Amino acid sequence: MLAAAWGVDEVTLRLHPERKVPSEVETIYRSWLERRAAGEPAHHLKGSCPFWGREFLVTPEVLVPRPETELLVQTALELAVSATARVLDVGTGSGCIAVSLAAERPRWRVCAVDRSQAALSVAHRNVERHGVEVELFLGDLASAAAPPWDLVVANLPYIPSGDLGKLPVEVQRDPPAALDGGADGLDLVRALLADLPRLLRVCGGAVLEIGENQVDAVATAAVETGLAVARRVRDTGGCERVVVLQQR
Ligand SMILES: C[S@@+](CC[C@H](N)C(=O)[O-])C[C@H]1O[C@@H](n2cnc3c(N)ncnc32)[C@H](O)[C@@H]1O
Repeated sequence: MLAAAWGVDEVTLRLHPERKVPSEVETIYRSWLERRAAGEPAHHLKGSCPFWGREFLVTPEVLVPRPETELLVQTALELAVSATARVLDVGTGSGCIAVSLAAERPRWRVCAVDRSQAALSVAHRNVERHGVEVELFLGDLASAAAPPWDLVVANLPYIPSGDLGKLPVEVQRDPPAALDGGADGLDLVRALLADLPRLLRVCGGAVLEIGENQVDAVATAAVETGLAVARRVRDTGGCERVVVLQQR
């Protein structure tokens, strides 16, 4: 936090402990410490967050990108899809997934949607910042962007409503609309699943991030809609965090 308040990198800060902290930096740093102690996430204070090797602007209007979501990006990049695939990121928030995919695969045509205009403004700034091409749409789930898609990726809200009050204080600073997944956490995931057969091209795929102990319910719902479960991917904590679905 001191490095961020000073505008220097952390290594420089550690290598030069003799450097005197300018008084204006100390003022910012002390106010940040107070806000941090009151539960404000460090990334909100700093205004940005690292994700998949890039720095993303964040505000209280978007979910702070999580390390688990990098597993979704990695899984999507491992899929065998066309070099010029049409890709849709549903619930883009800061745009971290869409921007990362567009940066890694510049020939993919990446679109991203969110129901929050405030989130889309942040995503727009991140698209510009990283110089990638991502088309942004405002709308409910995938309704605003025209199919067919070779790949649909989504990290939709998946926390059960009843658990929201039990989350750590920092997580409660994320927008409720980015967390609340309804009674069992899967309202939005199920709604997207039901739409996937319409959205995906033949042999198209979907990569979804989900919460702990949700994979069986998601797999069952996917099979009921006629999709095949191609992969269930565990995160470093052992939770089946990412599921890959395939249009038959
Ligand atoms: C868990 S956050 C994920 C943000 C970002 N993709 C990430 O991984 O950090 C979920 C996002 O979905 C959006 N969202 C929630 N319900 C939605 C809906 N019905 N249609 C479109 N977006 C929705 C929220 O506004 C939020 O930005």
